[in-house]
Amino acid sequence: MYRNSTCGELRLADANREVTLAGWVSHIRKMGGMTFIDLRDRYGITQLSFNQEVDTSLCDQANKLGREWVIQVTGRVQERSSKNPNLSTGEIEIIASALKVLNASKTPPFTIETETDGGDELRMKYRYLDLRRNVVRRNLELRHRMAFETRRYLDEQGFLEVETPVLIGSTPEGARDFIVPSRMNQGEFYALPQSPQLFKQLLMVSGFDRYFQIVKCFRDEDLRADRQPEFTQIDCEMSFVEQEDVLSLFEGLTKHLFKTIKEIDIPDFPRISYADAMRLYGSDKPDTRFGMTFTEIKDLTTGHNFGVFDTAEYVGAICAEGCASYTRKQLDGLTDFVKRPQVGAKGLIYLRYHEDGTLKSSVDKFFSEQDLKKWADRCNAKPGDLILVMAGETEKTQKQLSELRLEMGSRLGLRDRNNYRCLWVVDFPLLEKDEELNRFFAKHHPFTSPKPEDIALLDSDPAAVRANAYDIVINGVEIGGGSIRIHDSGLQKKMFSVLGFTEEKAQEQFGFLMNAFQYGAPPHGGIAFGLDRFVSIFAGLDSIRDCIAFPKNNAGRDMMIDAPSRVEQEQLDELGILLKPEKKN
Ligand code: AMO
Repeated sequence: MYRNSTCGELRLADANREVTLAGWVSHIRKMGGMTFIDLRDRYGITQLSFNQEVDTSLCDQANKLGREWVIQVTGRVQERSSKNPNLSTGEIEIIASALKVLNASKTPPFTIETETDGGDELRMKYRYLDLRRNVVRRNLELRHRMAFETRRYLDEQGFLEVETPVLIGSTPEGARDFIVPSRMNQGEFYALPQSPQLFKQLLMVSGFDRYFQIVKCFRDEDLRADRQPEFTQIDCEMSFVEQEDVLSLFEGLTKHLFKTIKEIDIPDFPRISYADAMRLYGSDKPDTRFGMTFTEIKDLTTGHNFGVFDTAEYVGAICAEGCASYTRKQLDGLTDFVKRPQVGAKGLIYLRYHEDGTLKSSVDKFFSEQDLKKWADRCNAKPGDLILVMAGETEKTQKQLSELRLEMGSRLGLRDRNNYRCLWVVDFPLLEKDEELNRFFAKHHPFTSPKPEDIALLDSDPAAVRANAYDIVINGVEIGGGSIRIHDSGLQKKMFSVLGFTEEKAQEQFGFLMNAFQYGAPPHGGIAFGLDRFVSIFAGLDSIRDCIAFPKNNAGRDMMIDAPSRVEQEQLDELGILLKPEKKN
């Protein structure tokens, strides 16, 4: 027996008990003839105490230990004279009577503490040590509990967890696939799934009725704080449902997680159409923890000889309450912010509505105070407020104004991580036009159903067709998305043709699905949550990396195992893969 207690469970009530603990040496402090060791395991930290006078050889042994050595200690639980209120075990210590080294350790490359001295790269390289840190481990504990509660909820709702294959075929839609060469079928490749989309729909054809899977998905796309090349979805599909059924069941899942894990009651989710989200927030994932919605003022700004406004397709404003006192320096800072390449605006116009009722703008040359008052009234501004205006091409400007809105929200402290605002964004457009390629792409994926009342527009005005598609957004993060699917093979064929697939190409890529649809496909729909993003929101993290046990860095590398890596020539030969010769300089 290595231990009969953990390092997190002993309390004053255990005083005088003889216990054996095992764990890692976290800290060693020598004070006079005493040596104190903080012993750590997953459950907590317990102080061990060694007294030179009582047992010299045992104390000498303790003094020879190093950080992160693995030891086993037997001793008696005793009330501490100086208690540590920050530790759950802080009222007691163990008066050690026996010590055994189970394993020595090299000195770790960074301190294993909440505030560590290790940089990002170093911690990624030694991720197994980073995972010993409480803060990191706690995120994984949270992840476990969220996955567990998800399973409990979905099981209670009659969902079956079914595994779908990881080696599948490549499909041209969506992000880039990771591909895997086939040794037995040389020249042919599997692809790793971007999601189990097709399989879950086939399971509906099979009559499974309610499916879910907590599943790894793979996408070869540019990485950001909220994107990893492999990530996890809570993937779900249901038969005989309409959009309303799906929204209500998964609003229920979200509320269940907030309730059981964070003890928060979330009110019913507001819903906003995609069109309104873009009009009011310039984003399809609005952060609704604060207002500052957009006001269009194009009609108030045209015809004043100010070229920027006159030539703009769109002029939009946000009103920052109580910010009229912003200094020139602060305003210049905001202009610099919107001019950063990540935002890409040419400039920013401001209007200060002073407390005394006067109005001063950066375009006073072109607009009288009466003109400016009209802007202020349209924006519902009060004396003391600051109005920020951006102009240009509609979509681009709305995106830039959205960045500015978020920045102002952050500066004004309106984006509290512990304040949760959930909402549904609905009525997404079915298609998105790629102007360069002059063709339509599916905004969600090609299996999403158009709204029945918009089907007629598929021929005449495809861009205007709305989809039965929805996203769940929490605090400005897209946590999940889904849709009601097309279950009619005729409509699915039509959709492929709008997307520019020839009949042969559609048959080659998705023939199995269209064939399956000819054997009694039920009406169905579903959703997938990004588990990593969901956990990050609950944990208040900036990056999903911190809730993934072994994440990749921004270049898609696993720094610890050093992947991806080259393979032996023999392996390539076996796969029939010929590499392009390396360029010599
Ligand atoms: P979608 O592509 O919207 O839908 O993905 C669903 C959710 O998965 C998360 N997500 C990611 N998380 C981390 N890293 C990534 N690279 C990444 N990409 C996506 C997001 C997103 O909302 N099959 C459909 C779902 C359906 O229609 O049922 C799908 O995959 O949180």
